[in-house]
Amino acid sequence: MKIMVVGGGGREHAIVKKIKENKSVTEIFALPGNGGIAQDATCVDIGAKDIDGIVNFALENKIDYAIVAPDDPLVLGAVDALEEKGIPCFGPRANAAIIEGSKVFSKNLMKKYNIPTAEYEVFTDMDSALKYLETAPIPTVIKADGLALGKGVIIAQTRDEAMDAVRSMMQDKVFGKSGDQIVIEEFLTGPEVSVLAFTDGKSIVPMVSSMDHKRAGDNDTGLNTGGMGTIAPNPYYTDPVAWVCMEQIFIPTVQAMNKEGRTFKGCLYFGLMLTEKGPKVIEYNCRFGDPETQVVLPLLESDLLTVMQAVTEERLGDIEVKFSSGAACCVIMASGGYPTSYKKGFEVTIPADIADSVYVAGTSLKDGVQVTSGGRVLGVTATADTLEEAIKAAYAKTEKCSFEGAFYRHDIGARALAARKEN
Ligand code: AMP
Ligand code: GLY
Repeated sequence: MKIMVVGGGGREHAIVKKIKENKSVTEIFALPGNGGIAQDATCVDIGAKDIDGIVNFALENKIDYAIVAPDDPLVLGAVDALEEKGIPCFGPRANAAIIEGSKVFSKNLMKKYNIPTAEYEVFTDMDSALKYLETAPIPTVIKADGLALGKGVIIAQTRDEAMDAVRSMMQDKVFGKSGDQIVIEEFLTGPEVSVLAFTDGKSIVPMVSSMDHKRAGDNDTGLNTGGMGTIAPNPYYTDPVAWVCMEQIFIPTVQAMNKEGRTFKGCLYFGLMLTEKGPKVIEYNCRFGDPETQVVLPLLESDLLTVMQAVTEERLGDIEVKFSSGAACCVIMASGGYPTSYKKGFEVTIPADIADSVYVAGTSLKDGVQVTSGGRVLGVTATADTLEEAIKAAYAKTEKCSFEGAFYRHDIGARALAARKEN
C-alpha cells in the first residue's frame, strides 16, 4: 500500500514511524515532511495547506490511503477533496473539523448538548465586549474564534489586560479574520489532561491520556509554546475520572456532532481541565495533538494503520485497540530564543542508536545533513514500564542529541510524579 501523510512536524514523524510497522505498507510519502521524516518516508515539497497540490499528488501517485494530520488542511477541506476523488482518508471532513476551527461553534455545541465547559459569552462587536469586561469576573479568558497557531487564547489577570486582548484581536486584527468573533469565558482551575480518541461517529475509543507542558521554562515559567514535552499516562486521569469523561463528554460529543449532521471521523482531541466541579472541556482539536502523539503512539500496541482504516470504514467497534500498560516521556529540544525569535541552520546531531525514538519536528536537509529549521526541533522519547524510568531514559537520550543553542525543560514529568505520590 502507498500511504500519504500530510504535515511536517514531530507528530507526523511519530505517525510515519508507526505506519511503517505495517507489513503491507510499501511506500510512505510525507507532504511536506521534514529533514528527519526524510529518513523514514519520501518527502515531497507540497505544503500542508495546498489542497489542490495534495489531491493532484495523491491521484498521480495512486495513493491508497491518506492521513491528514494538521488542523489547517482539515479545516480547509483536504479530506472532502481527497474523498471526492475516491481516496480513503483518516481525518474529519471540514464540516466536522469546525469543532476546532471555530471556538464559537464548539462552545455553542457544548451549551446546546449540556457538555461541561467554562461559562462564556460570544462577541462580534468590540464595544459590547469592552462593556461586558467592565464588570466581568477577573481573571478571565479571551479566545479568538478561528485558528491562530495556538496563540489565540489569552488569560487576562487584570481588566486592562483583558481589554487590551480584545482590542488586539478585534481592532488590530492580530489574528486576522480569526478575531472577527471572540469568546470571553470563565477562568477555570485544576489539573489539565489531554485525551486523544479514535472515533468513527459510531464508537469512540480513547487512547492513553497524556499531559502537555506548554510553558517554555522549568516550573511552568516563561512564555506559552506549542508544547515543550509530554508524558503518558496522565496520573490525574484516574479510572473514575475516565468514566465521568466518557459519560459526560466523549459520548455526548460524538452524538452531538451526529445530531448536527457533522459526523466526526478521525482523531478527536479533548483538552480537559479537572475542576472541583468535575471535568470540563477547555478545547477540542480535530486531530492528533503535538507533542501528545509522540508519547501516545509509542504506547499503542495495535497496528495504527489497521485502526485508522477501521475508523474510515466505520467499523471501529469491531476491532480491539490495545495500549501498553507502561509509560512514555517526550522531551522537546528547541532552538535558543523559541518561542520568540531564534536562528536556524545549525547542524543537528542524533546518534544512530537512539534515532528510532527521536521524532523530528523542525529540521531540513542541507547537503544531506539535518540542520535546524524551526523553533521546536526534536522530540526525544522513551517508553518504559514506569513513568520514572521513562523520564530518566528520555533525558539520557536528550543529553546525547545536540545542536547550537539547543534548550529543553528539565522538569518534564516532575508534576506528574509528584501528583502520583499525592494520590
Ligand atoms: P491553547 O488553546 O492550546 O492555546 O491553550 C490554551 C491554554 O489556556 C490551555 O491549555 C489552558 O491552560 C488555558 N486555558 C484555556 N481556557 C481556559 C479557561 N477557561 N480557564 C483557565 N485556563 C484556560
Ligand atoms: N499540544 C496541543 C495541541 O496539539 O494543540
